[in-house]
Amino acid sequence: MTKYIYIDRGVNILTDKEAENALQKENDRKFLSADSGIVRVSTERWQAAQEAELKHWMGLGLKASNDRNDQHLVGFDWYRAIQGSTFNSAIELGCGPFTNMRLIADICYVKECTLLDPLIEHYLAHPNCFYTRHSLSLESAREPLLLKRIRRGILRRFPGMRRFVSDTRKIPIRQIVASPIELMPIDRKYDLLVIVNVIEHCYDIAEVFKNITAVMEKGAIIVFHDKLYSHDTVKQTVAISYDAAHPLQVDSRSVNLFLEGNFTPVYRRIVTHSYTFLGEDISEDTLYFIGKKV
Ligand SMILES: C[S@@+](CC[C@H](N)C(=O)[O-])C[C@H]1O[C@@H](n2cnc3c(N)ncnc32)[C@H](O)[C@@H]1O
Repeated sequence: MTKYIYIDRGVNILTDKEAENALQKENDRKFLSADSGIVRVSTERWQAAQEAELKHWMGLGLKASNDRNDQHLVGFDWYRAIQGSTFNSAIELGCGPFTNMRLIADICYVKECTLLDPLIEHYLAHPNCFYTRHSLSLESAREPLLLKRIRRGILRRFPGMRRFVSDTRKIPIRQIVASPIELMPIDRKYDLLVIVNVIEHCYDIAEVFKNITAVMEKGAIIVFHDKLYSHDTVKQTVAISYDAAHPLQVDSRSVNLFLEGNFTPVYRRIVTHSYTFLGEDISEDTLYFIGKKV
């Protein structure tokens, strides 16, 4: 059992003495707030996270075609709470190469969507990216997981089969935005905003929350998912671990205050995802939330 873990911006994993040495040179202790976990980091720290993310998807993950989006589909109960709704203008923040919108737009009617991610220009070149500059390919949310896996397996081995085995339905993209949420343009309002597994990758949670509410019209729907951190645990782990890809670790009370203060819940569920890493249990509580902006 290793006490120290250090994952650098190249996604190299150090343990034991090596990790302890690396942690002495670089760690996130300086960013710890008084009682809310890590809510803001420097630009330089965030750039390390972006490097790690780029390496993850455009290096190690070139064969991937899913970022646990199927797991989230189950966590959100197949988005049944908004099934059949019409959205005129949707946005997914921190969309990654695969998006969750591709599944939501199968359950709802999304007329057009905007996709935002600081790495989006890179993701457009990912072999399994679900979007181009002009359209997002949909994927059936109801298709049994086994069939999905078989289809993805065929595509991995025979990429040329894409047009025969992939869903051919698409929705138009209004805009591709290469920006962090903190600097996103606030020039229009959306009636659906999706943000799944993104806040721990950002650099300033106050700006993220401010901009989310600024771009959503009254009555708009938010689809939100993230890990639930506790300040006390962050305080302990920051001394023995560092993960370049995850700069923010926001205490769940701040997340709940933001969601409860701005949205009427339509769906809320806490799910514990069980994982082991280097033989240790690193299970985490996560929140699945769909709400209507007040
Ligand atoms: C774990 S991935 C999740 C991707 C996608 N939401 C999904 O569930 O498939 C996190 C994404 O957040 C993006 N990201 C990092 N910092 C961000 C920021 N400040 N604003 C918006 N997105 C950010 C990363 O580039 C990465 O693509």
